[in-house]
Amino acid sequence: MIFGTPVYAGRVPNKVLPMIQGLFQGNDAFAVPVVTFGNRNYDNALIELRNELENNHFHTIAAGAFVAQHAFTDQLATMRPGKSDQEEIRGFAKRIVTIVEMIQTLGKIPKPVHVKGIEPIPPYYTPLGIDGKPAKFLKAKPKTKSNCDHCDLCVKVCPMGSINSEDPSKIDGICIKCQACVKKCPKQAKYFDDPAFLSHVEMLKRNYQRAAKNEIFVSDGRENEIQ
Ligand SMILES: Cc1cc2nc3c(=O)[nH]c(=O)nc-3n(C[C@H](O)[C@H](O)[C@H](O)COP(=O)(O)O)c2cc1C
Ligand code: SF4
Ligand code: SF4
Repeated sequence: MIFGTPVYAGRVPNKVLPMIQGLFQGNDAFAVPVVTFGNRNYDNALIELRNELENNHFHTIAAGAFVAQHAFTDQLATMRPGKSDQEEIRGFAKRIVTIVEMIQTLGKIPKPVHVKGIEPIPPYYTPLGIDGKPAKFLKAKPKTKSNCDHCDLCVKVCPMGSINSEDPSKIDGICIKCQACVKKCPKQAKYFDDPAFLSHVEMLKRNYQRAAKNEIFVSDGRENEIQ
């Protein structure tokens, strides 16, 4: 099984974690944890996802962290994954097939794939503003311009189900700042104006323009005997 999540604050998104913990059981299946990150860093998200899958009785045999355009701005990792990323991803897929074949031939279950990260898993990354100080925007929500025509598209795309269908300018629940409503609104009516959030985005744009690399990890396949 290929199991993917985006990186939020250097970790598996905290709203996704309970689903990973509660909805999946591996029953000794092979798994490949994959994270996407928006050009800053994946920090400890991959090791956290690997550990959660191992806890759920999957055997992780490969893992990858791949760069994807940042949800906050199209000026970070613009249009990635691009052509060369896709070639890397295809190469990764081929290596997964090879390792599965090798493990099946050897008849051994390997140790959890080695990945980059710190254990025990440290706290979430603290977003910073352009002044280098923590930018507190946990409660920031999108606003809505008067040209909204109540098409309800944003209601449908909000992964948290937080946009009120009677009045889409109202955000009733939690906003994870995914920007889906901002991007999908055909009227460009949704926007964020929270100063701390905008300052963080500006800080990212200033400091994380270098093209981050995808990182791939593959098991050597030679560890634990099958019981
Ligand atoms: C709330 C939030 C926090 C994020 N934190 C990070 C981060 O710590 N490091 C990073 O490189 N990218 C970060 N990103 C960018 C996402 O990882 C990126 O948008 C995602 O992998 C691409 O998939 P998407 O199109 O579903 O957003 C964050 C995005 C959001 C919305
Ligand atoms: S998608 Fe845009 S126009 Fe449609 S309801 Fe939402 S804010 Fe209004
Ligand atoms: S940014 Fe994402 S979570 Fe927040 S209201 Fe829009 S769609 Fe929902």
